[in-house]
Amino acid sequence: MSSTVNKDNIPAGHHLAAVLTSLGSPVEVTHRPTPTPGPDELLIEVKSIALNPVDHYQRDFGFLIASYPAVVGSDLAGVVVAAGPTSVPSDELKPGTRVAAFAPCLSHKGAPDYGAFQTRVLVPAANAVPLPERLSFNEASLLPMAVTTAWAGWYSIGVARDTAYTPADKKGILVWGGSSSVGSAALQTAKLMGFVVYTTASEKHHEYLKSLGASRVFDYKSEGVEASIIKAAKEDGLTFQVGYDAVGQLQSCLEILKALKEEGTTARVASAVPLSDASPTLEGVEVNSFVASPVDEKARTELFHFVYRVWLKEKLEKGEFVPSPKIQVVGKGLESVQEGLDVLKKGVSGTKLVIEL
Ligand SMILES: NC(=O)c1ccc[n+]([C@@H]2O[C@H](COP(=O)([O-])OP(=O)(O)OC[C@H]3O[C@@H](n4cnc5c(N)ncnc54)[C@H](OP(=O)(O)O)[C@@H]3O)[C@@H](O)[C@H]2O)c1
Repeated sequence: MSSTVNKDNIPAGHHLAAVLTSLGSPVEVTHRPTPTPGPDELLIEVKSIALNPVDHYQRDFGFLIASYPAVVGSDLAGVVVAAGPTSVPSDELKPGTRVAAFAPCLSHKGAPDYGAFQTRVLVPAANAVPLPERLSFNEASLLPMAVTTAWAGWYSIGVARDTAYTPADKKGILVWGGSSSVGSAALQTAKLMGFVVYTTASEKHHEYLKSLGASRVFDYKSEGVEASIIKAAKEDGLTFQVGYDAVGQLQSCLEILKALKEEGTTARVASAVPLSDASPTLEGVEVNSFVASPVDEKARTELFHFVYRVWLKEKLEKGEFVPSPKIQVVGKGLESVQEGLDVLKKGVSGTKLVIEL
């Protein structure tokens, strides 16, 4: 159980936060000083947070935490409270703007000002997208991690941002694990680039994934699913040069791409799941080491600016990209973070867990 504080007795200039006090400790809800945004940073009032597997790795194993106390969490939606000085003045993210934003708790290694699990957080301005009125904070909170990871995957295997195929190009793409959070964003981004998307999921999610743009959906639990995918792609006259493994089924992805790539070429797979020396390999198909945003700050800022301020902003405005998968609100208030992470740890199916603050 996380501890609670008297919410009516928060000192001036402080806000509530779900803090990790030591390695493996449960989150403790307490107050901490509210920071001031630095150059090209925003201070955001957090309204909703979405939970990701990396959050419980951070809580339980100290993954990418440099020191304690720490505040973790990457996914949030809220309202801009203040903006720091910027070299490129813009009204787009002025105070009062509703946004979804990717809190940089991983690159800042748990530094308390930068984790999403609190009511005020600092984020780089490049990591925030303004939201259309029709999107609720709860729905929008799941966007940042999923969309960032989808685009970081395409970046890592060299899929150009301006890719624009038509059905006549017959360019297939494989997204393994379309009902996962990352997989559903990879599916939608691939569809918007004009690929014919093949994906895998439990039967109950097939219609939903078709509504997101999948051309064919296969039940990964069925016998010989790889052969079924290869057969269908040949019938559809598609070639597959690229794929995205969202859930750790690399062997299947390798076999399928090897069978469907153009003769004499190398196919490429993005793996959202970390690889090891024991991970499978197959001649003719390259795998990136692990989907990650660029380590170099300048390159990362440039990618994030494209993802949030250019691509996602436009796609949300036009309604071409929708938050996926469906949300489940697992609690209200920061006191729900501890239990929400325990629920996530047990596994979800076609659902994103969200906490409303
Ligand atoms: N590299 C990065 O930067 C990064 C970022 C985010 C996440 N990740 C990692 O990416 C993975 C996915 O994260 P997430 O948050 O998207 O996961 P998630 O939404 O929690 O994944 C749950 C989904 O996985 C599907 N699934 C499980 N096993 C499957 C299989 N063998 N084949 C097809 N689908 C399968 C389930 O499908 P059904 O319900 O249809 O059975 C379920 O809907 C995690 O390992 C996470 O740690 C990496």
